[in-house]
Amino acid sequence: MTFQISVADTEFRFPCEANESVLDAAQRAGLEIPFSCRKGVCGTCKGRIVSGEARAFAGDALGAADRAEGNVLFCNARPRSDLVIAPRSISKANPFARKTTPARVFRLQRLAPDVMLVHLRFPAGIRVKFKAGQHLNLILENGERRDFSMANPPRESDGAQLHIRHVPGGAFTSPVFNGLKRGDILTAEIPFGDFSLRDSDKPILFVAGSTGFAPIASIIEDMTIRGIERDMTLYWGARQRSGLYSDLPGKWAQNPRFKYVPVLSDTPEAGFRHNLVHRAVLEDHHSLAGFQAYVCGVPVMTQAARDEFVAAGLPENEFFADAFVTRAEVAASGP
Ligand SMILES: Cc1cc2nc3c(=O)[nH]c(=O)nc-3n(C[C@H](O)[C@H](O)[C@H](O)COP(=O)(O)OP(=O)(O)OC[C@H]3O[C@@H](n4cnc5c(N)ncnc54)[C@H](O)[C@@H]3O)c2cc1C
Ligand code: FES
Repeated sequence: MTFQISVADTEFRFPCEANESVLDAAQRAGLEIPFSCRKGVCGTCKGRIVSGEARAFAGDALGAADRAEGNVLFCNARPRSDLVIAPRSISKANPFARKTTPARVFRLQRLAPDVMLVHLRFPAGIRVKFKAGQHLNLILENGERRDFSMANPPRESDGAQLHIRHVPGGAFTSPVFNGLKRGDILTAEIPFGDFSLRDSDKPILFVAGSTGFAPIASIIEDMTIRGIERDMTLYWGARQRSGLYSDLPGKWAQNPRFKYVPVLSDTPEAGFRHNLVHRAVLEDHHSLAGFQAYVCGVPVMTQAARDEFVAAGLPENEFFADAFVTRAEVAASGP
């Protein structure tokens, strides 16, 4: 059965099958609603149902207050009638904005026991536009896709530096640690995602778990290049010291408006906060009312950070997250 979806206060209308998500249907119609995880975790695709009925087809991150206000996550909402929707933003997709390109493995470097730097170079003459914080899709031979965030700033547009964490049993990341070599050619589609710096004067909390550091590094490097000055604190968490695999925070700390709090969750060590990374933020701030937060890492962390930061006064519209779900998790939550 096909329903018609209209976007309030716009001329946009598109069909949506009863068994597909509103987000997928919008994309099929060439419309872009912001999204990241596609799994009901990050909240990026949140919007309101103005009229009509939709249902979530899997558990998602919305609380009772959101539901009472008619909010849904469009990646997780299927229509049960024609709908009028009010997403946070919607625009016509620009077919030239996204490129599919071969990408040659230029450098591989083990950053930590379970993290590999994969530096990809695009063919000569190909420059790819992206915003700091966005991610790409690697398209595997069987057509499956894997998401990875660019750690380099957009100015370095001739390639992409990825920080890839080994997911035990992972179909893509396992061969990255055992077989991928310099010169290999991958296929990338770039860019995707809505995790990027928002204009504001508010002080920033950057919260990264493990390779969630990658998009945040891109954003901070880009701010430095563009001379954007804001008060900012980076909380970077890992289980052990080796998981905090980059020297960049030391370089950024030359900026008096930048503070760095390294956090370990397993074993206490001098010089490191011992806690879950988002809890370290709450240890330091009784109220988050005046902040903007950018949070990136595994879904359980981004979800806990959203809930606990909002409870500590962070306005919900000042919380931005990329939840590093695996494709297997997306498939497992699907229809
Ligand atoms: C927007 C975004 C940006 C990301 N950026 C990064 C990044 O910069 N760095 C990074 O390290 N990661 C990032 N990730 C996460 C990354 O995409 C995943 O870790 C990656 O997809 C793992 O691929 P894989 O093929 O190795 O694992 P998968 O094949 O997806 O498997 C993952 C796990 O699920 C298990 N599994 C396999 N099939 C199933 C099934 N059918 N049902 C249940 N379980 C199954 C596997 O055994 C394995 O343990 C990002 C994710 C998103 C959404
Ligand atoms: S894209 Fe829908 S919740 Fe993340």
